[in-house]
Amino acid sequence: MDEFTFTYPTKVYFGEGIAQKVLKPELEKVGKTVMLACGGGSVKKNGIYDEMRGILEEAGKEIVDFSGIMPNPTYAKVQEGAALAKENHVDFILAVGGGSVVDCCKVISAQAKLDEDIWTMEYTSYKFPTEGIPIGAVVTASGTGAEMNSGAVITCEDKMWKGPILGTAPSFAILDPAYTASVPKMQVLSGAFDTLSHAMETYFGNSDQDNVSDDIALVVMRNTVVNMKRLLENIDDMQARGNLMWDSAMAENGMLKVGRLTDFQAHQIEHQLGAYTDCNHGQGLAVIHPAYYRHILKDAQEKFTRFAKVVFGKDTAEEGIEALVDFIRECQLPEKLSELRSNTEITPEILRKVADTCNIIKCGPRELDRDEIYEILVECI
Ligand code: NZQ
Ligand code: ZN
Repeated sequence: MDEFTFTYPTKVYFGEGIAQKVLKPELEKVGKTVMLACGGGSVKKNGIYDEMRGILEEAGKEIVDFSGIMPNPTYAKVQEGAALAKENHVDFILAVGGGSVVDCCKVISAQAKLDEDIWTMEYTSYKFPTEGIPIGAVVTASGTGAEMNSGAVITCEDKMWKGPILGTAPSFAILDPAYTASVPKMQVLSGAFDTLSHAMETYFGNSDQDNVSDDIALVVMRNTVVNMKRLLENIDDMQARGNLMWDSAMAENGMLKVGRLTDFQAHQIEHQLGAYTDCNHGQGLAVIHPAYYRHILKDAQEKFTRFAKVVFGKDTAEEGIEALVDFIRECQLPEKLSELRSNTEITPEILRKVADTCNIIKCGPRELDRDEIYEILVECI
Protein backbone atom coordinates (compact mmCIF):
# COMPACT_ATOMS: atom_id res chain seq x y z
CA MET A 1 0.00 0.00 0.00
CA ASP A 2 1.16 3.52 -0.78
CA GLU A 3 1.00 6.23 1.88
CA PHE A 4 -2.52 7.63 2.34
CA THR A 5 -4.81 9.79 4.42
CA PHE A 6 -8.45 8.83 4.44
CA THR A 7 -11.33 10.93 5.78
CA TYR A 8 -15.04 10.81 5.16
CA PRO A 9 -16.81 14.13 4.75
CA THR A 10 -20.24 12.72 3.82
CA LYS A 11 -22.83 11.18 6.10
CA VAL A 12 -24.98 8.73 4.15
CA TYR A 13 -28.62 7.98 4.82
CA PHE A 14 -29.87 4.97 2.88
CA GLY A 15 -33.34 3.47 2.58
CA GLU A 16 -36.84 3.86 1.24
CA GLY A 17 -38.61 6.87 2.74
CA ILE A 18 -35.46 7.97 4.57
CA ALA A 19 -35.75 11.67 3.59
CA GLN A 20 -38.92 11.99 5.65
CA LYS A 21 -36.98 10.89 8.72
CA VAL A 22 -33.66 12.64 8.33
CA LEU A 23 -33.89 15.68 6.09
CA LYS A 24 -35.62 18.04 8.52
CA PRO A 25 -33.17 17.33 11.37
CA GLU A 26 -30.28 17.85 8.93
CA LEU A 27 -31.77 21.15 7.74
CA GLU A 28 -32.13 22.35 11.31
CA LYS A 29 -28.31 22.43 11.47
CA VAL A 30 -27.95 24.88 8.56
CA GLY A 31 -28.79 28.52 7.85
CA LYS A 32 -32.12 29.96 6.76
CA THR A 33 -31.69 30.39 3.01
CA VAL A 34 -31.53 27.18 1.02
CA MET A 35 -30.93 26.82 -2.71
CA LEU A 36 -33.11 23.98 -4.03
CA ALA A 37 -31.23 22.83 -7.12
CA CYS A 38 -32.46 20.33 -9.69
CA GLY A 39 -32.21 19.24 -13.31
CA GLY A 40 -34.41 19.53 -16.34
CA GLY A 41 -37.75 18.56 -14.84
CA SER A 42 -37.79 14.87 -13.88
CA VAL A 43 -38.07 15.60 -10.16
CA LYS A 44 -40.95 17.99 -10.77
CA LYS A 45 -42.81 15.22 -12.67
CA ASN A 46 -42.17 12.41 -10.18
CA GLY A 47 -43.05 14.40 -7.04
CA ILE A 48 -39.58 14.46 -5.43
CA TYR A 49 -39.27 18.23 -5.89
CA ASP A 50 -42.59 18.84 -4.10
CA GLU A 51 -41.58 16.47 -1.31
CA MET A 52 -38.27 18.34 -0.82
CA ARG A 53 -39.99 21.71 -0.95
CA GLY A 54 -42.48 20.53 1.67
CA ILE A 55 -39.72 19.44 4.04
CA LEU A 56 -37.83 22.72 3.50
CA GLU A 57 -40.97 24.72 4.26
CA GLU A 58 -41.66 22.65 7.37
CA ALA A 59 -38.11 23.43 8.50
CA GLY A 60 -38.88 27.14 8.04
CA LYS A 61 -36.41 27.73 5.23
CA GLU A 62 -36.42 30.44 2.61
CA ILE A 63 -36.12 28.71 -0.72
CA VAL A 64 -34.10 29.91 -3.68
CA ASP A 65 -35.00 27.80 -6.72
CA PHE A 66 -32.31 26.85 -9.20
CA SER A 67 -33.40 24.44 -11.92
CA GLY A 68 -32.44 23.36 -15.43
CA ILE A 69 -29.07 21.81 -14.62
CA MET A 70 -28.41 19.76 -17.73
CA PRO A 71 -26.73 16.35 -18.11
CA ASN A 72 -22.99 17.07 -18.62
CA PRO A 73 -23.37 20.35 -16.70
CA THR A 74 -21.73 23.39 -18.23
CA TYR A 75 -19.44 25.96 -16.72
CA ALA A 76 -21.95 28.65 -17.70
CA LYS A 77 -24.58 26.90 -15.58
CA VAL A 78 -22.15 26.79 -12.65
CA GLN A 79 -21.58 30.55 -12.96
CA GLU A 80 -25.34 31.21 -13.18
CA GLY A 81 -25.89 29.22 -9.98
CA ALA A 82 -22.97 30.86 -8.17
CA ALA A 83 -24.26 34.34 -9.04
CA LEU A 84 -27.73 33.42 -7.75
CA ALA A 85 -26.26 31.97 -4.56
CA LYS A 86 -24.19 35.10 -3.93
CA GLU A 87 -27.06 37.47 -4.69
CA ASN A 88 -29.38 35.66 -2.27
CA HIS A 89 -26.79 34.96 0.43
CA VAL A 90 -27.54 31.26 0.23
CA ASP A 91 -26.56 29.34 3.40
CA PHE A 92 -27.04 25.81 2.12
CA ILE A 93 -27.50 24.02 -1.23
CA LEU A 94 -29.79 21.00 -1.55
CA ALA A 95 -28.83 19.22 -4.78
CA VAL A 96 -31.67 16.97 -5.95
CA GLY A 97 -30.81 14.86 -8.97
CA GLY A 98 -28.20 12.63 -10.58
CA GLY A 99 -24.46 13.18 -10.92
CA SER A 100 -24.91 16.25 -13.09
CA VAL A 101 -26.94 18.19 -10.52
CA VAL A 102 -24.67 17.14 -7.67
CA ASP A 103 -21.51 18.05 -9.61
CA CYS A 104 -22.83 21.43 -10.69
CA CYS A 105 -23.76 22.25 -7.08
CA LYS A 106 -20.35 21.23 -5.73
CA VAL A 107 -18.72 23.87 -7.91
CA ILE A 108 -21.45 26.49 -7.39
CA SER A 109 -20.73 26.06 -3.68
CA ALA A 110 -17.03 26.84 -4.07
CA GLN A 111 -17.40 29.53 -6.75
CA ALA A 112 -19.95 31.42 -4.63
CA LYS A 113 -17.28 31.93 -1.96
CA LEU A 114 -14.62 33.11 -4.39
CA ASP A 115 -13.96 36.37 -6.18
CA GLU A 116 -11.75 34.77 -8.79
CA ASP A 117 -12.87 32.44 -11.55
CA ILE A 118 -12.62 28.88 -10.25
CA TRP A 119 -11.52 27.34 -13.55
CA THR A 120 -8.64 29.80 -13.90
CA MET A 121 -7.74 29.35 -10.26
CA GLU A 122 -7.56 25.55 -10.49
CA TYR A 123 -6.17 25.13 -14.01
CA THR A 124 -3.75 28.02 -14.28
CA SER A 125 -2.80 28.90 -10.68
CA TYR A 126 -3.17 25.30 -9.41
CA LYS A 127 -4.92 26.60 -6.30
CA PHE A 128 -7.95 24.80 -4.91
CA PRO A 129 -10.93 26.04 -2.91
CA THR A 130 -10.71 25.85 0.85
CA GLU A 131 -14.32 26.76 1.64
CA GLY A 132 -17.78 26.49 0.14
CA ILE A 133 -21.46 26.78 0.90
CA PRO A 134 -22.41 23.50 2.60
CA ILE A 135 -24.31 21.03 0.39
CA GLY A 136 -26.63 18.07 0.84
CA ALA A 137 -27.30 15.62 -2.00
CA VAL A 138 -30.56 13.82 -2.64
CA VAL A 139 -29.73 11.21 -5.27
CA THR A 140 -32.46 10.53 -7.83
CA ALA A 141 -30.33 8.65 -10.41
CA SER A 142 -27.38 6.57 -9.26
CA GLY A 143 -24.19 5.49 -10.99
CA THR A 144 -21.61 8.25 -10.70
CA GLY A 145 -21.12 8.15 -6.94
CA ALA A 146 -20.79 11.94 -7.14
CA GLU A 147 -22.63 12.32 -3.84
CA MET A 148 -19.69 11.10 -1.77
CA ASN A 149 -16.76 13.07 -3.16
CA SER A 150 -15.69 16.65 -3.82
CA GLY A 151 -14.72 16.24 -7.48
CA ALA A 152 -17.05 17.49 -10.18
CA VAL A 153 -16.93 16.97 -13.93
CA ILE A 154 -17.86 20.12 -15.78
CA THR A 155 -18.01 21.01 -19.48
CA CYS A 156 -16.34 24.33 -20.36
CA GLU A 157 -18.01 24.89 -23.71
CA ASP A 158 -15.79 27.75 -24.89
CA LYS A 159 -12.66 25.72 -24.11
CA MET A 160 -14.04 22.47 -25.63
CA TRP A 161 -13.02 20.75 -22.43
CA LYS A 162 -14.90 18.42 -20.11
CA GLY A 163 -12.88 17.74 -17.01
CA PRO A 164 -12.58 17.74 -13.24
CA ILE A 165 -13.05 20.78 -11.05
CA LEU A 166 -12.66 20.39 -7.33
CA GLY A 167 -15.62 21.72 -5.36
CA THR A 168 -17.31 20.91 -2.06
CA ALA A 169 -18.23 17.40 -0.95
CA PRO A 170 -21.82 17.03 0.27
CA SER A 171 -22.02 16.95 4.06
CA PHE A 172 -24.81 14.41 3.76
CA ALA A 173 -26.31 12.26 1.04
CA ILE A 174 -29.76 10.72 0.88
CA LEU A 175 -29.90 7.46 -1.05
CA ASP A 176 -33.46 6.26 -1.52
CA PRO A 177 -33.74 3.53 -4.18
CA ALA A 178 -37.43 4.40 -4.66
CA TYR A 179 -36.39 7.85 -5.94
CA THR A 180 -34.83 6.11 -8.94
CA ALA A 181 -38.11 4.35 -9.88
CA SER A 182 -38.85 6.78 -12.73
CA VAL A 183 -35.35 6.80 -14.25
CA PRO A 184 -35.57 5.52 -17.86
CA LYS A 185 -34.20 1.98 -18.32
CA MET A 186 -31.32 3.08 -20.52
CA GLN A 187 -30.19 5.67 -17.93
CA VAL A 188 -30.45 3.09 -15.12
CA LEU A 189 -28.17 0.73 -17.05
CA SER A 190 -25.74 3.36 -18.32
CA GLY A 191 -25.47 4.75 -14.79
CA ALA A 192 -24.73 1.27 -13.45
CA PHE A 193 -22.17 0.72 -16.21
CA ASP A 194 -20.46 3.91 -15.01
CA THR A 195 -20.19 2.30 -11.57
CA LEU A 196 -18.67 -0.84 -13.10
CA SER A 197 -16.27 1.37 -15.02
CA HIS A 198 -15.16 3.25 -11.88
CA ALA A 199 -14.29 -0.01 -10.15
CA MET A 200 -12.50 -1.35 -13.26
CA GLU A 201 -10.57 1.87 -13.79
CA THR A 202 -9.44 1.83 -10.17
CA TYR A 203 -8.49 -1.86 -10.22
CA PHE A 204 -6.44 -1.62 -13.44
CA GLY A 205 -4.28 1.21 -12.08
CA ASN A 206 -0.88 0.23 -10.75
CA SER A 207 -0.93 -1.37 -7.32
CA ASP A 208 1.02 -3.89 -5.32
CA GLN A 209 -0.20 -7.48 -5.19
CA ASP A 210 -2.89 -8.62 -2.77
CA ASN A 211 -3.91 -5.21 -1.53
CA VAL A 212 -7.39 -4.96 -0.08
CA SER A 213 -8.46 -2.12 -2.40
CA ASP A 214 -8.08 -4.44 -5.43
CA ASP A 215 -10.15 -7.12 -3.73
CA ILE A 216 -12.93 -4.70 -2.78
CA ALA A 217 -12.97 -3.33 -6.35
CA LEU A 218 -13.47 -6.84 -7.77
CA VAL A 219 -16.35 -7.51 -5.39
CA VAL A 220 -18.01 -4.21 -6.29
CA MET A 221 -17.67 -5.11 -9.99
CA ARG A 222 -19.18 -8.55 -9.47
CA ASN A 223 -22.03 -7.19 -7.40
CA THR A 224 -22.73 -4.49 -9.99
CA VAL A 225 -22.91 -7.07 -12.79
CA VAL A 226 -25.15 -9.38 -10.72
CA ASN A 227 -27.59 -6.59 -9.95
CA MET A 228 -27.59 -5.21 -13.49
CA LYS A 229 -28.53 -8.72 -14.63
CA ARG A 230 -31.37 -8.73 -12.11
CA LEU A 231 -32.60 -5.47 -13.62
CA LEU A 232 -32.51 -7.01 -17.09
CA GLU A 233 -35.03 -9.54 -15.75
CA ASN A 234 -37.08 -6.91 -13.96
CA ILE A 235 -36.20 -3.25 -14.30
CA ASP A 236 -38.42 -2.40 -11.31
CA ASP A 237 -36.53 -4.69 -8.91
CA MET A 238 -36.06 -2.20 -6.07
CA GLN A 239 -33.70 -4.43 -4.13
CA ALA A 240 -31.36 -4.54 -7.13
CA ARG A 241 -31.68 -0.75 -7.58
CA GLY A 242 -30.73 -0.31 -3.92
CA ASN A 243 -27.75 -2.63 -4.26
CA LEU A 244 -26.58 -0.68 -7.30
CA MET A 245 -27.06 2.61 -5.49
CA TRP A 246 -24.61 1.55 -2.80
CA ASP A 247 -22.24 -0.04 -5.36
CA SER A 248 -22.25 3.34 -7.08
CA ALA A 249 -21.31 5.21 -3.92
CA MET A 250 -18.71 2.59 -2.96
CA ALA A 251 -17.01 2.75 -6.35
CA GLU A 252 -16.39 6.48 -6.26
CA ASN A 253 -16.22 7.46 -2.60
CA GLY A 254 -12.48 6.93 -2.44
CA MET A 255 -12.58 3.62 -0.58
CA LEU A 256 -11.32 1.59 -3.54
CA LYS A 257 -8.57 4.11 -4.26
CA VAL A 258 -6.98 3.93 -0.84
CA GLY A 259 -3.24 3.28 -0.94
CA ARG A 260 -2.93 2.77 -4.70
CA LEU A 261 -2.79 4.43 -8.10
CA THR A 262 -5.73 4.35 -10.50
CA ASP A 263 -6.07 4.20 -14.27
CA PHE A 264 -9.13 6.19 -15.49
CA GLN A 265 -7.81 6.43 -19.06
CA ALA A 266 -11.17 5.33 -20.51
CA HIS A 267 -12.81 8.11 -18.49
CA GLN A 268 -10.39 10.70 -19.84
CA ILE A 269 -11.21 9.69 -23.40
CA GLU A 270 -14.95 9.63 -22.70
CA HIS A 271 -14.93 13.03 -21.03
CA GLN A 272 -13.35 14.65 -24.08
CA LEU A 273 -15.73 12.74 -26.33
CA GLY A 274 -18.45 14.30 -24.16
CA ALA A 275 -16.96 17.77 -24.66
CA TYR A 276 -17.31 17.37 -28.44
CA THR A 277 -20.59 15.41 -28.60
CA ASP A 278 -22.49 15.89 -25.29
CA CYS A 279 -22.96 12.10 -25.27
CA ASN A 280 -24.24 10.21 -22.24
CA HIS A 281 -21.34 9.40 -19.90
CA GLY A 282 -22.10 5.73 -19.13
CA GLN A 283 -22.94 4.98 -22.75
CA GLY A 284 -19.71 6.56 -23.96
CA LEU A 285 -17.80 4.37 -21.51
CA ALA A 286 -19.59 1.23 -22.75
CA VAL A 287 -18.31 1.96 -26.25
CA ILE A 288 -14.73 2.84 -25.28
CA HIS A 289 -13.89 0.23 -22.62
CA PRO A 290 -13.64 -2.95 -24.75
CA ALA A 291 -11.46 -1.29 -27.42
CA TYR A 292 -9.20 0.24 -24.76
CA TYR A 293 -8.91 -3.04 -22.87
CA ARG A 294 -7.95 -4.98 -26.00
CA HIS A 295 -5.06 -2.50 -26.38
CA ILE A 296 -3.75 -2.87 -22.82
CA LEU A 297 -4.52 -6.56 -22.28
CA LYS A 298 -0.89 -7.66 -22.61
CA ASP A 299 0.27 -4.97 -20.16
CA ALA A 300 -1.86 -6.31 -17.31
CA GLN A 301 -2.40 -9.96 -18.29
CA GLU A 302 -2.49 -11.25 -14.73
CA LYS A 303 -4.94 -8.61 -13.56
CA PHE A 304 -7.20 -9.21 -16.54
CA THR A 305 -7.17 -12.95 -15.79
CA ARG A 306 -8.25 -12.31 -12.21
CA PHE A 307 -10.92 -9.86 -13.42
CA ALA A 308 -12.20 -12.54 -15.85
CA LYS A 309 -12.42 -15.15 -13.08
CA VAL A 310 -13.97 -13.07 -10.32
CA VAL A 311 -16.34 -10.86 -12.29
CA PHE A 312 -17.45 -13.11 -15.16
CA GLY A 313 -16.39 -16.64 -14.13
CA LYS A 314 -14.09 -17.03 -17.16
CA ASP A 315 -10.65 -18.62 -17.31
CA THR A 316 -8.53 -16.26 -19.38
CA ALA A 317 -7.86 -12.56 -19.71
CA GLU A 318 -9.12 -12.57 -23.31
CA GLU A 319 -12.35 -14.35 -22.33
CA GLY A 320 -12.89 -11.73 -19.61
CA ILE A 321 -12.83 -8.89 -22.13
CA GLU A 322 -15.15 -10.77 -24.48
CA ALA A 323 -17.50 -11.44 -21.53
CA LEU A 324 -17.54 -7.68 -20.90
CA VAL A 325 -18.49 -7.14 -24.56
CA ASP A 326 -21.28 -9.74 -24.31
CA PHE A 327 -22.52 -8.11 -21.11
CA ILE A 328 -22.64 -4.66 -22.76
CA ARG A 329 -24.65 -6.24 -25.62
CA GLU A 330 -26.99 -8.03 -23.17
CA CYS A 331 -27.67 -4.67 -21.50
CA GLN A 332 -28.38 -3.15 -24.93
CA LEU A 333 -25.84 -0.44 -24.19
CA PRO A 334 -24.20 1.10 -27.26
CA GLU A 335 -21.26 -0.78 -28.76
CA LYS A 336 -20.34 1.77 -31.41
CA LEU A 337 -19.90 5.54 -31.45
CA SER A 338 -22.60 5.80 -34.10
CA GLU A 339 -25.13 4.51 -31.55
CA LEU A 340 -24.44 7.37 -29.13
CA ARG A 341 -26.73 10.34 -28.87
CA SER A 342 -24.57 13.18 -30.12
CA ASN A 343 -25.09 16.86 -30.90
CA THR A 344 -22.65 16.58 -33.79
CA GLU A 345 -21.68 14.01 -36.40
CA ILE A 346 -18.87 11.86 -34.99
CA THR A 347 -16.30 12.05 -37.77
CA PRO A 348 -12.63 10.97 -37.79
CA GLU A 349 -11.73 14.69 -37.52
CA ILE A 350 -13.71 14.99 -34.28
CA LEU A 351 -12.08 11.83 -32.96
CA ARG A 352 -8.64 13.24 -33.76
CA LYS A 353 -9.51 16.32 -31.69
CA VAL A 354 -10.71 14.12 -28.83
CA ALA A 355 -7.45 12.15 -28.97
CA ASP A 356 -5.35 15.30 -29.16
CA THR A 357 -6.98 16.99 -26.16
CA CYS A 358 -7.81 14.27 -23.64
CA ASN A 359 -5.74 13.73 -20.52
CA ILE A 360 -3.16 10.98 -20.71
CA ILE A 361 -2.84 8.84 -17.61
CA LYS A 362 0.65 7.85 -16.56
CA CYS A 363 -0.18 5.25 -13.92
CA GLY A 364 -2.40 2.86 -15.87
CA PRO A 365 -1.10 -0.45 -17.18
CA ARG A 366 0.67 1.48 -19.97
CA GLU A 367 0.89 5.15 -20.94
CA LEU A 368 -0.80 5.60 -24.32
CA ASP A 369 0.25 8.13 -26.93
CA ARG A 370 -2.24 10.27 -28.83
CA ASP A 371 -2.02 8.20 -32.01
CA GLU A 372 -2.98 5.07 -30.11
CA ILE A 373 -5.91 6.88 -28.45
CA TYR A 374 -7.04 7.94 -31.93
CA GLU A 375 -6.66 4.32 -33.10
CA ILE A 376 -8.82 3.14 -30.18
CA LEU A 377 -11.49 5.70 -31.04
CA VAL A 378 -11.46 4.76 -34.73
CA GLU A 379 -11.95 1.11 -33.72
CA CYS A 380 -15.15 2.27 -31.96
CA ILE A 381 -16.70 3.77 -35.12
O1 NZQ B 1 -32.42 16.59 -15.80
P1 NZQ B 1 -33.53 15.74 -15.33
O2 NZQ B 1 -34.84 16.13 -15.89
O3 NZQ B 1 -33.55 15.58 -13.84
O4 NZQ B 1 -33.29 14.26 -15.96
C1 NZQ B 1 -32.15 13.49 -15.66
C2 NZQ B 1 -31.20 13.39 -16.84
O5 NZQ B 1 -31.85 13.57 -18.06
C3 NZQ B 1 -32.60 12.06 -15.48
N1 NZQ B 1 -33.05 11.74 -14.13
C4 NZQ B 1 -32.41 11.91 -12.96
N2 NZQ B 1 -33.15 11.43 -11.95
C5 NZQ B 1 -34.30 10.98 -12.50
C6 NZQ B 1 -34.24 11.17 -13.90
N3 NZQ B 1 -35.25 10.82 -14.73
C7 NZQ B 1 -36.33 10.25 -14.19
N4 NZQ B 1 -36.44 10.00 -12.86
C8 NZQ B 1 -35.46 10.35 -11.99
N5 NZQ B 1 -35.58 10.05 -10.68
O6 NZQ B 1 -31.44 11.28 -15.79
C9 NZQ B 1 -30.71 11.96 -16.80
C10 NZQ B 1 -29.24 11.85 -16.51
O7 NZQ B 1 -28.92 12.53 -15.32
P2 NZQ B 1 -27.40 12.84 -14.95
O8 NZQ B 1 -27.38 13.48 -13.63
O9 NZQ B 1 -26.74 13.54 -16.10
O10 NZQ B 1 -26.80 11.36 -14.93
P3 NZQ B 1 -25.60 10.77 -14.13
O11 NZQ B 1 -25.97 10.56 -12.73
O12 NZQ B 1 -25.15 9.62 -14.92
O13 NZQ B 1 -24.48 11.93 -14.16
C11 NZQ B 1 -23.63 12.11 -15.27
C12 NZQ B 1 -22.63 13.22 -15.01
O14 NZQ B 1 -21.77 12.91 -13.90
C13 NZQ B 1 -20.39 13.00 -14.31
C14 NZQ B 1 -20.49 12.65 -15.77
O15 NZQ B 1 -19.34 13.01 -16.50
C15 NZQ B 1 -21.71 13.40 -16.21
O16 NZQ B 1 -21.43 14.76 -16.41
N6 NZQ B 1 -19.55 12.16 -13.46
C16 NZQ B 1 -19.31 12.56 -12.20
C17 NZQ B 1 -18.47 11.88 -11.35
C18 NZQ B 1 -18.17 12.35 -9.98
N7 NZQ B 1 -18.46 13.56 -9.64
O17 NZQ B 1 -17.63 11.61 -9.16
C19 NZQ B 1 -17.77 10.65 -11.77
C20 NZQ B 1 -18.23 10.11 -13.07
O18 NZQ B 1 -17.16 9.41 -13.67
C21 NZQ B 1 -18.78 11.08 -14.04
O19 NZQ B 1 -17.76 11.64 -14.86
ZN1 ZN C 1 -17.76 7.79 -14.61
